[in-house]
Amino acid sequence: MAENTPKPAAGNAPAKPKPAAPRAAKPAPKAAAPGAAKPQAPKAAAPKAAASSGVTKPPVDRPDPNPFKDSKTSALGGWFQERFYVIMPILDYLKKKEVPKHRLSFWYYFGGLGLFFFIIQIITGLLLLQYYKPTEADAFASFLFIQGEVPFGWLLRQVHAWSANLMILMLFIHMFSTFFMKSYRKPRELMWVSGFILLVLSLGFGFTGYLLPWNELAFFATQVGTEVPKVAPGGAFIVEILRGGPEVSGETLTRMFSLHVVLLPGLVMLVLAAHLTMVQVLGTSAPIGYKEAGLIKGYEKFFPTFLAKDGIGWLIGFALLIYLAVMFPWEIGVKADPLASTPLGIKPEWYFWAQFQLLKDFKFEGGELMAIILFTIGGVVWLLVPFIDRQASQEKKSPIFTIFGILVLAFLLINTYRVYAEYSILK
Ligand code: HEM
Repeated sequence: MAENTPKPAAGNAPAKPKPAAPRAAKPAPKAAAPGAAKPQAPKAAAPKAAASSGVTKPPVDRPDPNPFKDSKTSALGGWFQERFYVIMPILDYLKKKEVPKHRLSFWYYFGGLGLFFFIIQIITGLLLLQYYKPTEADAFASFLFIQGEVPFGWLLRQVHAWSANLMILMLFIHMFSTFFMKSYRKPRELMWVSGFILLVLSLGFGFTGYLLPWNELAFFATQVGTEVPKVAPGGAFIVEILRGGPEVSGETLTRMFSLHVVLLPGLVMLVLAAHLTMVQVLGTSAPIGYKEAGLIKGYEKFFPTFLAKDGIGWLIGFALLIYLAVMFPWEIGVKADPLASTPLGIKPEWYFWAQFQLLKDFKFEGGELMAIILFTIGGVVWLLVPFIDRQASQEKKSPIFTIFGILVLAFLLINTYRVYAEYSILK
């Protein structure tokens, strides 16, 4: 700075020395003509090298490296601000973001809870990876080792298993609450689409993780689950890809493991980044007509008020998770024996029960294919709802879509309950 902003000599110097134009500074190779360079103090003269070559550098007004610096920032905060000042407008934006308060605001917490359980999955999954061995010979034994020998290994495994279930439950609640509040309407269509992809990927996590303990239940459930696409045209090829061969084997375990710990987490991170960016950029919607009817009780700052309330939700979620993990441990069962006959009562995880029941109901000639087609069409319509529901996009109520949502929810709940009722008798 001192180099470019010379301090004028007291007295005869102008208050602010005019930056010398390069052309003007060029002469004076030997000594300045009397009176010509008078305002320049010796200290403020051009640097030595420049002076010796006879070239004086003009003072330059450098932009402040951190235009967002404020006097209240701590030294450490200032250090970071100076280096990352390009993201300061984003932080400024977060501070300004507001969330509407109304009688349905409670439902806004479930997306954050899904995120919380996803973070738990990443942490506990990475720790489990230190001991888990993804081979047909060692997988089950490594689970026994984690459960019995590793300090707190049992807790780690139980928390991972329970958090997976809670995450999917939170996502279903989040999806239906955003559906019934019509939060998917313009301009949040892609929030819905990215959310839907996140749900599918999360179900993929559940499916691929189920086989990893290599126990009897997981083995036969995967056998049944990977069999499903067979009835569709070209389905045999998909089955072969999923299993890594014609049957469920050690190859299948390798595939499920790589999907579970590499591909799916990578995809989820990408889509989640898009989803959460849109949450911040587009803000939180209020249900249709609430503003006009005066049902909005006010707005609260996202940062720190809403985030602090999110934090309370996370603490409650964490307490529930630990309670379930300690009080209701998942059994490890017996090691899978591919040569054994399929035991009674094999069923998938609860979040696939509705589809499972549908397949059971359609057990007639060509029925399974029909069930798959029905389910696929239903899924595509559900994905495209924001683009089909034109009424909601014009901020008008769309009762037909509310009825559609109720029917979908009823289908899922009734079928899930049917499987629960049937299999709890079998126990
Ligand atoms: C890993 C999965 C997911 C995470 C972590 C997540 C996270 C979030 C968060 C934190 C919010 C803002 C607060 C809120 O409204 O709850 C949000 C909003 C939203 N999410 Fe998700 N979400 C996920 C999956 C889904 C799914 C499955 C859907 C629907 C198919 C969805 C659709 C939406 C929509 C439409 C909004 C906007 C809500 C509004 O503006 O009122 N998300 N998400």
